[in-house]
Amino acid sequence: MASVTQHHKKLERNVTLLGVFAFIAVAIGGIVEIAPLFWIDNTIEKVKGMRPYTPLEQAGRDIYVREGCYTCHSQMIRPFRDEVERYGHYSLAAESMYDHPFQWGSKRTGPDLARVGGRYSDEWHVQHLKDPRSVVPESIMPPYAFLAEKELKVGDPAARLEALRKVGVPYTKADIEQAEADLRAQADPDADAGDLAKRYPKAQIRDFDGNPGRVTEMDALVAYLQMLGTLVDVNSAAAQEELASEKGR
Ligand code: HEC
Repeated sequence: MASVTQHHKKLERNVTLLGVFAFIAVAIGGIVEIAPLFWIDNTIEKVKGMRPYTPLEQAGRDIYVREGCYTCHSQMIRPFRDEVERYGHYSLAAESMYDHPFQWGSKRTGPDLARVGGRYSDEWHVQHLKDPRSVVPESIMPPYAFLAEKELKVGDPAARLEALRKVGVPYTKADIEQAEADLRAQADPDADAGDLAKRYPKAQIRDFDGNPGRVTEMDALVAYLQMLGTLVDVNSAAAQEELASEKGR
């Protein structure tokens, strides 16, 4: 026992030695926490129903980011009673696992949009985006009427998906090959959508902007908004997530 105290005395009185041993102790802690992350693919518990965005939804999402909708809207419902009562079930980590960049946000000039999908009709969205005050008189949201006039132009939809695949979004070879056709078919009631709905479960296939003759930026944005929060059956997924974390403890 005496010798242990002796050694410790030496360690505590020599600042260099103390520094070296302190570094070793901290390094062990760091390695134990960090090293496993190199061997596991994902730290997010997968939930049923979550899938990558269709090319049209992704195009709508890119417009959402381009127009800075995130400067007024968040897409994350916090697990607090007031939020859950207003917006619906709190957001699960898995629901934004394919988001690049994520849209969680903390600035809410307008409401959270994480579960806005299906809450309004397409007509409502189009009218609201064209002229917010025509449906919500006290609204301070700017109008985006030009989206209905602008034809949807995505330089190379396949390359867009390929880039997302490189950062971990599991698009299949078929998804990438058919990206261009999928993009058009989802917004065109007359087109043959092929196996789009099979590869992207719950994909909503229809004309979104009230103008079936053209695929506009409005089509893409409304398709994106109508999908938000609709992919995962949150009540069963949340139960599954809680069960998994119980087991992990
Ligand atoms: C200057 C801030 C601001 C910007 C930018 C903005 N919004 Fe809004 N948004 C609001 C406000 C405030 C409301 C609530 C009043 C209303 O419904 O118009 C709102 C409401 C909404 C709603 C209805 C939500 C609900 O649950 O009732 C949707 C959908 C929406 N915005 C989408 C968008 C999209 C898409 C964009 C980008 C093209 C956008 N907003 C840009 C402020 C903004």
